[in-house]
Amino acid sequence: MAEGQRRLSELTDTFELLATDGTVLPFDRWPISRILRGETLSGWEARVRRRDRDWQRVFLYGGTLARDAAGHPLVVVVSITDITDRKQAQETLQQAVERAEAAAEELRRSNEELEQFAYVSSHDLQEPLRMVTGFMDLIRERYAGRIDAKADLWIGHAVEGAQRMSSLITALLEYSRVGRQDRPLSPVRLADALADAIKNLSITIEETRSAIAVDELPTVAGDRPQLSMVFQNVIGNAIKFCRPGVRPEIRVASRRDDESDGWIVSIADNGIGIPGDQLERVFLIFQRLHTRDEYPGTGIGLALCRKIVERHGGKIWVESVRGQGSTFRFTVPTVRGMA
Ligand SMILES: Nc1ncnc2c1ncn2[C@@H]1O[C@H](COP(=O)(O)OP(=O)(O)OP(=O)(O)O)[C@@H](O)[C@H]1O
Ligand SMILES: [Mg+2]
Repeated sequence: MAEGQRRLSELTDTFELLATDGTVLPFDRWPISRILRGETLSGWEARVRRRDRDWQRVFLYGGTLARDAAGHPLVVVVSITDITDRKQAQETLQQAVERAEAAAEELRRSNEELEQFAYVSSHDLQEPLRMVTGFMDLIRERYAGRIDAKADLWIGHAVEGAQRMSSLITALLEYSRVGRQDRPLSPVRLADALADAIKNLSITIEETRSAIAVDELPTVAGDRPQLSMVFQNVIGNAIKFCRPGVRPEIRVASRRDDESDGWIVSIADNGIGIPGDQLERVFLIFQRLHTRDEYPGTGIGLALCRKIVERHGGKIWVESVRGQGSTFRFTVPTVRGMA
């Protein structure tokens, strides 16, 4: 007995057992003590540490005490599985996940800050700009033709500059609004969203005698005003970037997309086309392939389209043959896939 106790204290002097929450277990709560008392353990995890040196492993304990017919202890069955490596891999994975989550959160936060900045600055710029345009109008009314030809020209430039700035700010505001307080997606008949866009473009369509052919379009999960804005920008471009002397012909169509489990909508034109190395760049904000003298515009339209499509969980891209036309395509979710 004395011998046994000496061995026991040697054991507890050398090793300590910790539960999964990190508490140190007294000997009577070690798995072997519990099994000997008649408890059955299975998959019970503990960390074993040596007190005298840097050594520790994680074990899974199981075991039971078998008795004879009279109820006397007969045999003890114990299983010990070393799961240190498995635990370590789990912890490494968990740390990687946490790091990735922290990075994503940081990115989301800085994105939000940037959008807030764009929104506030464009919003606050409108007021002083209204003053500039207001007073320029007054000056023009009162002094046009009264100073000299140069003054008239300069006033004209100033008014034009202010107008351009105003449309830039409006576009920027519109851009920064997507993603802020978005309405939830709901079933939208794409034909309705397209009809809204065509209505807004009706004067341009008439003036250019553009022909727009529309195939059957599905009902999707979306935001009608935003999807209409996508149509309006892409069709507006198709009309604007037409070949001289060639009547704009535009075709809107759709087909099921197995990959995204949604729809692909396509808008094809017979315009000037886009060079192969610029197919990505056109979707960046303020990136234009032409000067304002050649074609008017601010370079926000397609960036806005991309933001809207991505907000719908889709993507947008363009294929083009220079001098023959371009086809813009974007994916939208089905109503079934509605979040
Ligand atoms: N259908 C098209 N055919 C040829 N080029 C195009 C077409 N659509 C867009 N582009 C090119 O991509 C550029 C970016 O298009 P985006 O709609 O973003 O700007 P924008 O039309 O110039 O200005 P905004 O739309 O802000 O009035 C255009 O300036 C043009 O060079
Ligand atoms: Mg445009």
